[in-house]
Amino acid sequence: MKKRHTITAALPYANGPLHIGHLAGAYIPADIYSRYLRLKGKDIVFVCGSDEHGAAIPIRAKKEGVGPQKIIDKYHAVIKKSFEDFGISFDNYSRTSSKIHHKMASDFFNELNEKNIFIEKESEQLYDLKENQFLADRYVEGTCPNCGYEHAYGDQCENCGCSLSPTELINPKSKLSGNKPILKKTKHWFLPLDNFEGFLNKWFLKEKKNDWKVNVFGQVKSWINEGLKPRAITRDLDWGIPVPIKEANGKVLYVWFDAPIGYISSTIEWAEKKQLDWKPYWQDPNTELVHFIGKDNIVFHCIIFPSILSASGKYILPTNVPANEFLNLEGQKISTSKNWAIWLHEYMKDFPDMQDTLRYVLTANAPENKDNDFTWKDFQAKNNNELVAIFGNFINRVVVLTHKYYDGKTPLAMALSEKERELVDEVYSYPKKIGESIEKFKFREAVSTMIDLARLGNKYLAEEEPWKVIKTDQSKKVDTIMNISIQICGVLSQICSPFLPNTSLKLTNQFNLKNIQWDKINKDNPIISNEIEKSSLIFRKIEDEEIVFQLEKLNDSKR
Ligand code: 2FM
Ligand code: ZN
Repeated sequence: MKKRHTITAALPYANGPLHIGHLAGAYIPADIYSRYLRLKGKDIVFVCGSDEHGAAIPIRAKKEGVGPQKIIDKYHAVIKKSFEDFGISFDNYSRTSSKIHHKMASDFFNELNEKNIFIEKESEQLYDLKENQFLADRYVEGTCPNCGYEHAYGDQCENCGCSLSPTELINPKSKLSGNKPILKKTKHWFLPLDNFEGFLNKWFLKEKKNDWKVNVFGQVKSWINEGLKPRAITRDLDWGIPVPIKEANGKVLYVWFDAPIGYISSTIEWAEKKQLDWKPYWQDPNTELVHFIGKDNIVFHCIIFPSILSASGKYILPTNVPANEFLNLEGQKISTSKNWAIWLHEYMKDFPDMQDTLRYVLTANAPENKDNDFTWKDFQAKNNNELVAIFGNFINRVVVLTHKYYDGKTPLAMALSEKERELVDEVYSYPKKIGESIEKFKFREAVSTMIDLARLGNKYLAEEEPWKVIKTDQSKKVDTIMNISIQICGVLSQICSPFLPNTSLKLTNQFNLKNIQWDKINKDNPIISNEIEKSSLIFRKIEDEEIVFQLEKLNDSKR
């Protein structure tokens, strides 16, 4: 592993609240990864922020009958709160309307413009005669020329992930008036991606990203091989960062030009607060840069942003972009416009104190290699059959028995038998096993291994039956059984931390343990808690009525 880690999670548009698809796609995996690296004692920065430019914002503003500033202020706060609620442990959560970000994005443009990287070109763009406005990006919808999806945006098809120009859409329709747009001439600055094919071939294809996810590698490879075209990086919009040169008066930077630079601005903001130098986090080749995103963002993070960074020449390039596929909901695509979603702020009202359950389900069922489905029934089953029946049950049995036999104090183990030594070896092999999965971005595998340890604990108790042994003349053996079981709880309290931070906190409190560095969890350093508190259950069962209620709510609120 490298010396330093810069971890980014896609900047969410500040045009609406977050739903479970957001958490599953980028933020939970990024958070697990960051928490794990912190527990390894690594030098990391985990940044994000609200994406406050682009057509998405004024479109929402129009819908709510307010100005764009009101929208970004409102949703920036809502989004930030949801991240806090779900324990997404950013070192810094910024916003692209910040001064530092406007400066960084403008400096990037100027630097590349002075290096003659861009081409200036007059072209015909879609124009809404009724609204007197050019129709960039999300202002226009039409059929994707690549996959036939009928609601592709002017800059991208969310179905196949390809990047588009508005004029490439078949049957374009203005999102403002619903009218068919006309073509009108306008001048823009373009990033000639075709000039970056050599760079991309070398960086991406020749340096074989064998360890990248197949879905990411395959998509990027096919885009590069199909040949790239210049992409306009300016827009005729009145919301965004003004293009910082005179001839471009009235134009703004394309949101996808400025947004990824937001990762750097957020890092600078963080470093300033900490009085650190931000540069090594973005410019030292000994830094690992990982972008966590959903699949619709692949082209921007694997082709466009790396090209921009390489054109500057000062920056490192991503070491990995472990993009997730999409999460569907009850068999249908999550849709904001149809209100087919589970909103995080609503989940918080219905399931307060159950953030870890959602984190668990979204990790166990993450759309890592293919689109996946979230169902309320499966949510209930994973909570009741895994968190409650396996993890919670094991902890509870150990707590109850330790109080019953030892008044909450951990007994000393006697000399271990061969079988017990093997078990202890196995127990302490879990951190390494889980770490290996996390480092390969296999979070489903990692969380399932975590549950396996609780399973192992349950199996041990079921086989040893301390409640029977205690009644025999072998009752001293129970000391060892309980000592080992308490160690298993101790290891669980630590290794669940990246996935279930609240649970980890409850357990370390209950078992009077400190946080232990990940690599120091081994049998030479046994995790023994001297005293265990009696406290309430760490997970609760979800009843059928709660699921029926959620399903009705979802169906009733569908538009
Ligand atoms: O797709 C989105 O929601 C974008 N706002 C993601 C931006 S990621 C980045 F590069 F900032
Ligand atoms: Zn498409």
